[in-house]
Amino acid sequence: MTTYRIAVIPGDGIGKEVVPAGLEALHATADRFGITLDCDEFGFASADYWQRHGTMMPADWEQTLRGYDAIFFGAVGWPDVVPDHVSLWGSLLQMRRTFDQYVNLRPCRLMPGVRSPLAGRGPGDIDFVVVRENTEGEYSSVGGRVFEGTDRETVLQETVMTRIGVDRVLRYAFEHAERRPARHLTSATKSNGISISMPYWDERVAAMGQRFPGVHVDKLHIDALAAQFVLHPDRFDVVVASNLFGDILSDLGPACAGTLGIAPSANINPEREHPSLFEPVHGSAPDIAGQGIANPVGQIWCASMMLDHLGHPDAGAHLLGAIEDVLAAGPGEAPLTPDLHGKGTTVELGRAIADRVRERT
Ligand code: NAI
Ligand code: MG
Repeated sequence: MTTYRIAVIPGDGIGKEVVPAGLEALHATADRFGITLDCDEFGFASADYWQRHGTMMPADWEQTLRGYDAIFFGAVGWPDVVPDHVSLWGSLLQMRRTFDQYVNLRPCRLMPGVRSPLAGRGPGDIDFVVVRENTEGEYSSVGGRVFEGTDRETVLQETVMTRIGVDRVLRYAFEHAERRPARHLTSATKSNGISISMPYWDERVAAMGQRFPGVHVDKLHIDALAAQFVLHPDRFDVVVASNLFGDILSDLGPACAGTLGIAPSANINPEREHPSLFEPVHGSAPDIAGQGIANPVGQIWCASMMLDHLGHPDAGAHLLGAIEDVLAAGPGEAPLTPDLHGKGTTVELGRAIADRVRERT
């Protein structure tokens, strides 16, 4: 039997509270499905580590993490101690780049018992995933400033799209769409305004689409697409986007589906040459850290995504089902955290989900 090696990095603030809850639900699911996990916890990528060592991570972090099958990450950032750009660039962003995690995957699903800020929407109305290109595109370091401080001051920053970079994220998105019942892929474009790179993106979408005849493809300009997320979120299944467009959509999507506390994300290296990293969308939440009231659902949902990625979609679906059952029970029955209008704690909600994993058929 395979043993999966998981590197656990709680990070800062509520990361240190939600990660243990995530692990409890993860282990309950693994036990139930006969999956063996070997977890090692690391204290780096945190303000504590920075205070002791003056860096966010040890020099050999890459060798340390390289052998793991996945990284289960909480949140990094403690602005009173380390400036955010230092903590983020010194840890998470290095992992994403070094481990070539070129897909950022964010499911957006309106869960039972969670109120959407969109009027009249209930569970089943919102259930899509955003696939964001995570390594190139608009977020390049190609460019510069000339004639600084003069009337001719000029600033340039180029979008970089490579055929390899575009095709690999599109292939992932199409494969993902092929596995979902609706088999529908929407591409975010702006080829009417951005007249060189975006028509290229569209061309590559059309070419990749030829190889996936079972997937229905459409494209929308990013402005209209953003409006449709709000007006008709039920139209979407898999949405693929460049780095910048995907960044915006992957915040807008989960926002339409309710609270930040439940949103998960994955940074994936699909070839599995490097470990992929699973982290909730939220940060370290200094305003509520230490109170034991952080919602652990985002972290637990990450555990479900990690099980999917490790090749156990049945286990991932079971865990997601347990989350849904507990959320559906509502604050009267289940120990939901204050952001879900309940009085439960992180530990209680995590335990309720782990218990549900063991009980449900
Ligand atoms: P945040 O996501 O930490 O908090 C935003 C608001 O949402 C706060 O009011 C917080 O209490 C609430 N919230 C977040 N997660 C919650 C949960 N699980 N349950 C209940 N309420 C929750 O974003 P903020 O405050 O902008 O950033 C705080 C720190 O986290 C900064 O250092 C920032 O750089 C870092 N950060 C790290 C991220 C990561 O590790 N990927 C992502 C976002 C922020
Ligand atoms: Mg963002």
